[in-house]
Amino acid sequence: MYICLCNPFSDTDVHEHLQTLEGPARVQDVYRTCSGGEDFNCGTCACILKKMVDTHNNTRTITRLTQNMTRGLDACETADTENL
Ligand code: FES
Repeated sequence: MYICLCNPFSDTDVHEHLQTLEGPARVQDVYRTCSGGEDFNCGTCACILKKMVDTHNNTRTITRLTQNMTRGLDACETADTENL
């Protein structure tokens, strides 16, 4: 599905770009990359693009927090075992 009609790109383009990022995404940066270096024109696509970027960033944050919690729990279990 096309997201932007002024500088055409699709939701697939956005998802593929977001998957290449190691850090959090910014709407303006994602727009520029997916549009081939252009800036917003009419801005009609900004809301859906922001929702996609927010979802990506929130998912990334939850994944990192879960990994940190798992590491912390693993460290606790190791510490308990050593004290027995
Ligand atoms: S639809 Fe994306 S800038 Fe106009």
